[in-house]
Amino acid sequence: MRKRFLRLIPLGIFSCLTVPGVTQAKSDPARLFATNCTLCHGADGSGDTASGKAMHAKDLRSDEVQQQSDAALSEVITKGRGKMPAFGAKIKADDVTKLVAYIRSLAKK
Ligand code: HEC
Repeated sequence: MRKRFLRLIPLGIFSCLTVPGVTQAKSDPARLFATNCTLCHGADGSGDTASGKAMHAKDLRSDEVQQQSDAALSEVITKGRGKMPAFGAKIKADDVTKLVAYIRSLAKK
C-alpha cells in the first residue's frame, strides 16, 4: 500500500507542472515570452505575426537562430538589435537566460 502511494507522488508532481498558470511563478519564461515577445515573434517563435512579418523577425526555431550562442541571443534580448527592442531594463538577466532556454525549447517542438 505504502509503495503504491510513493509511486503516485512523481505522477502528481508531473501533472502539477503541466497545468499552465497554476503552479508557475511570475518569472515563468513561457509567461514572459507571451507578454513581451509574441506580438512580434508569435507564440511558437515563428515570427508569423503581422508585426513579425513587417519587421522581418526570423523564425526563432530556425537553425540560423539556434546556431547562435546563448550569449549572443541574450545580448540581442538585452540590448536589442535593429527593430528588436532592448529588454535589458524590463527583464532581469536571470529571466533573459530563461528566455534563451525557452527559445531553445521552442525549436524542439
Ligand atoms: C517589436 C517587435 C519585437 C518584439 C516585441 C520582440 N522582438 Fe525579438 N526580434 C524582433 C526583430 C525584428 C528581430 C530581428 C532583429 C534584426 O534585425 O536582427 C528580433 C530578433 C530576436 C532575436 C535574435 C534572432 C535573430 O534574428 O538572430 C532573439 C533571440 C529575439 N528577438 C528574442 C526576443 C524575445 C525573447 C523577446 C521578448 C522578451 C522579443 N524578441 C521581443 C522583433 C521583436
